[in-house]
This record gives sequence, structure tokens and C-alpha cells, in this order.
Amino acid sequence: VDLQPFNTLGVAARARYFMELTDPAQVPPALSWAAERGLRPLILGGGSNLIFAGAEIHALVLRMAIPGRHWERVEGDEATLVLGAGENWHEAVLYAARSGYRGIENLALIPGTAGAAPVQNIGAYGVELCEALESVTAFDRERAQWRRLGTDECRFAYRDSLFKQYPGRFVISQIHLRLSRSQPLRLEYQELRDYLADCPVSSLDALAVAQAVMAIRRRKLPDPARIPNVGSFFKNPVVSEADYARLKSRHPGLPAYPQPQGVKLAAGWLIDQCGWKGYRNGTVGVHNRQALVLVNHAGGSGRDVLALATEIRASVLERFGVELEMEPGVVGGAGLPPIG
Ligand code: EPU
Repeated sequence: VDLQPFNTLGVAARARYFMELTDPAQVPPALSWAAERGLRPLILGGGSNLIFAGAEIHALVLRMAIPGRHWERVEGDEATLVLGAGENWHEAVLYAARSGYRGIENLALIPGTAGAAPVQNIGAYGVELCEALESVTAFDRERAQWRRLGTDECRFAYRDSLFKQYPGRFVISQIHLRLSRSQPLRLEYQELRDYLADCPVSSLDALAVAQAVMAIRRRKLPDPARIPNVGSFFKNPVVSEADYARLKSRHPGLPAYPQPQGVKLAAGWLIDQCGWKGYRNGTVGVHNRQALVLVNHAGGSGRDVLALATEIRASVLERFGVELEMEPGVVGGAGLPPIG
């Protein structure tokens, strides 16, 4: 099967074994089928956060297409929205917002599926998925059983989770979101506040916030349907207070966000300062409005993108002494080589 339509970076790759799953009951037999043949499963959602580094993928690719959305435990202002892993994330955000429920509206327009959302704990405009998530239903290959994992069991952190730490161990079939009609809207993110500056907060609802987020994203992030990309290519690095103070004295414009353990820096700013924004190297390049996003202009391979990422990391390390960590997963290759 040709995997090019199944990854938003638009990289050419082939899967020898490929199954599309539309029902949770298909998950255990598919995994047994792979195990009997000594194949690892590769769980694929929207393909918006992975890079195929090799031309042939030696795994059983399981494309998660389990549909469904319904409400559970409607209690007062609160309710749980249950989404099948294959549901489109952005459509679900709009559905919740139009239904008058708050909690995920800041995560509008993030590409990919509901089942992939907990894997990297998607986050944007001041909100992370784990704040609205109640639990995840997943098949645990190690225990060979279905489990309902509460948010406290999922080891969520910035762009990280249990599911990301053990790739291939869990096959997520459903996610359960606890939403509310009356919780305060989340307007801490400066750019979002600026965008909505003329609207009195009392006039806003979840849909208005979702629409603001969509407008902000559209003005700086490339639409993967038109310019193939996987969103942020690197995580925003967290450095110690001491390192931050040192950097800030030399680079007064450095954007930074205090964290419980250190200071988070804007990787996009660091890359931008190294002159990469809008850079193009044959088939691949750096987006001209957000330096954190690498783009595939014309049929570049996963390796081309990884080679560019390596150059970018080296230049940021040299200029700022900060090591960038890649955000999407790499399949079928060694990932990024160490710097130096
Ligand atoms: N900046 C630059 N130049 C650039 C890019 C950014 O100077 O080319 C500066 C901006 O001016 C701003 C700061 O860096 O002061 C932060 O930029 P932005 O608000 O665009 O957010 P980000 O930190 O670059 C993160 C997420 C995005 C998410 C936005 C909004 C990560 C790795 N990325 O980007 O997530 O949409 O915040 O919350 O945390 C994704 O993960 O794919 C993604 C798009």
C-alpha cells in the first residue's frame, strides 16, 4: 500500500502489510495476525505527526478509522464526550463548541485524529488535551487486554505521554473528554487575547474562541493539504533558570514561558534568529511564516527533511547552546543523528 496519502508530510513510502480498522473488535485479531508473522504494529491516525524515513515500512500498518461520537454522564453543566479513535479531531472540536461545551476549543484546527490526540498530548493556545481528558480506552499489547486508563495513569507532560513512551504498546480505540458548559474560557495565551481584544469576554463562547484560534493558525501555519508538513518539527526546549538568565542577557528579545521546572523557550524564535525562516533546499524547506514548521515543497523524502532538521539543530546549538528535540516520531529509520 502506498502511504503517501496517509502522511501529511507527503513522503513516499510503502507498507507491505496494511489494515484499516473500523471496529474495536478488529484490534486484537489484527495484533495476533502481526505477532504470528513477527511483525511490529505501526498505529496510524491522520499521519500528521510522523515521518517515514525509509521507502519500505516493515511493520503491520494499522490505520485507525474507528468512528463514533456520543455523550455520556450528562450531569448539570458537565458531560463526557466519547470519540472513536478515527474521528477527525478538528471536526470534534467544532461539534463540542457548537453544542455549547467548553474545554477543547483552543485546540481547533490541529490536524489528525481523536485517537492520536493523547499520544503527544496535543496542546495549543494555552491548553493541553490532558486538561480536558477523562480517560482513554486502549488495548494494551503487553497485558493482552483492554484497559480504560485514567488521565493520572497516562503520564502526560508537554508533548508527551505513556503512549508516546511505549510506541506500539497501546492501541487507542476511544477517548473520553470531560467538558463543561460553564467553565471559564481560556484566554491566557497572549496572541489569542490580542486577537480577541475588541470582544468583551462576556460576549464570547467556545465557538468564538475556536474561530479565533482558527484564524490565528491560518495566518501562520501552512495547511498540510496544500503545503505538506507535520506542524511543529521541534519541541519548545525547557532550560534552567540560570541558562535562561544567561541567554536573556545576550538576546533580550528571547520569548520565554516560565514552567514548574525551568523556562520554556520558543524554538521557532531560535530557528528564526539563525536565519532559517523561508529557507528552501531543493525539495524541502522552512515555512516562511513559522520557522518551527518544516515543509515539503516538492516530493522531498523523509530523509531530506531529517537532513535539513539536523542542520537546523546544529545551527541553534552553535548560536544559543540549546539542543532542540524533535517532536514528530520517525518510522523506518534511525531518527536524527546526534549533533557533533
Ligand atoms: N516566533 C518567531 N519566529 C518564528 C516562530 C515563532 O519569532 O518563526 C516567536 C513568536 O513571535 C512568539 C514565539 O516565538 O513570540 C512563540 O510562537 P508561537 O506563538 O507561534 O508558538 P510556538 O511556541 O512556536 C507552540 C506549539 C504549536 C502551537 C502554538 C500555539 C510546540 C512545539 N508548538 O508553537 O503547536 O500551535 O504554540 O500554542 O509547542 C504543533 O505542535 O504542531 C504546533 C503547531
